[in-house]
Amino acid sequence: VRQLLPAPAATADPAAVYALPPGTDRHVRANMVASVDGATAVHGRSRGLAGPADLAVFQTLRRLADLILVGAQTVRAEDYGPPRQVRADGSRPVLAVVSRSLDLDPGSRLFAAGHRPLILTCASAPAGGRSQLAPVADLLEIGDDRVDLVAALDQLADRGYRHVLCEGGPRLLGDLMAAGRLDELDLTVSPQLVAGPSARLLNGPMLPGGPRLRLATLLEDDDFLFARYLVG
Ligand SMILES: NC(=O)c1ccc[n+]([C@@H]2O[C@H](COP(=O)([O-])OP(=O)(O)OC[C@H]3O[C@@H](n4cnc5c(N)ncnc54)[C@H](OP(=O)(O)O)[C@@H]3O)[C@@H](O)[C@H]2O)c1
Repeated sequence: VRQLLPAPAATADPAAVYALPPGTDRHVRANMVASVDGATAVHGRSRGLAGPADLAVFQTLRRLADLILVGAQTVRAEDYGPPRQVRADGSRPVLAVVSRSLDLDPGSRLFAAGHRPLILTCASAPAGGRSQLAPVADLLEIGDDRVDLVAALDQLADRGYRHVLCEGGPRLLGDLMAAGRLDELDLTVSPQLVAGPSARLLNGPMLPGGPRLRLATLLEDDDFLFARYLVG
């Protein structure tokens, strides 16, 4: 990996580039990959956009996170399993899935080998889903018709999950941005043109006077670009 910005360097260590400054209290970052023309999925999955360099950044960001926040549709589409990355203190990041429908299969990979994710849900979630998932997950009800993401992040911080990595998808990221709770966007630009119907990075109502992003670092490897944007 070479660094293009802020100062050119022939090699760069993603672990150092993405490390949060010491003393960072709370931080929410999102990591997403998009093709040059803005697609976030190929045939409904992001896998077709990824490459070895992208995987290295993905894993680095997981190792730096207390908690991975992900939308239920991404869990279903990508067949999410337990996080395998090990953090500096020897623990693994916790996975938290946001879902109103609770349409998650208790027999799926998400719950494999006793992995017990957090599920952030809301009061209007179906009772059947709750009773199906209660034996395999810890359900937190935060909000009435939708998960209140501001309150959810506050509750997670109270539980010690202060450095949050959102892995999308575009609808969850749109909600997070609308809630004003995104501090950093880590965007991988995959050297492809995809077209097709895929959503862009954020899928939600237009953001009035959308926030200004500041490009903190730009890395390159194998024609992939890795931009680290700070929000606001
Ligand atoms: N390129 C990338 O980096 C990347 C990253 C992630 C995903 N993806 C792709 O994006 C697609 C999935 O993204 P998506 O935007 O359709 O879905 P998503 O954001 O992953 O998940 C949306 C679902 O999350 C739940 N949800 C989100 N916000 C909520 C809230 N405030 N309250 C309650 N529930 C909430 C709902 O789950 P329920 O339906 O269960 O109620 C909603 O249907 C897939 O094709 C995936 O491959 C790409």
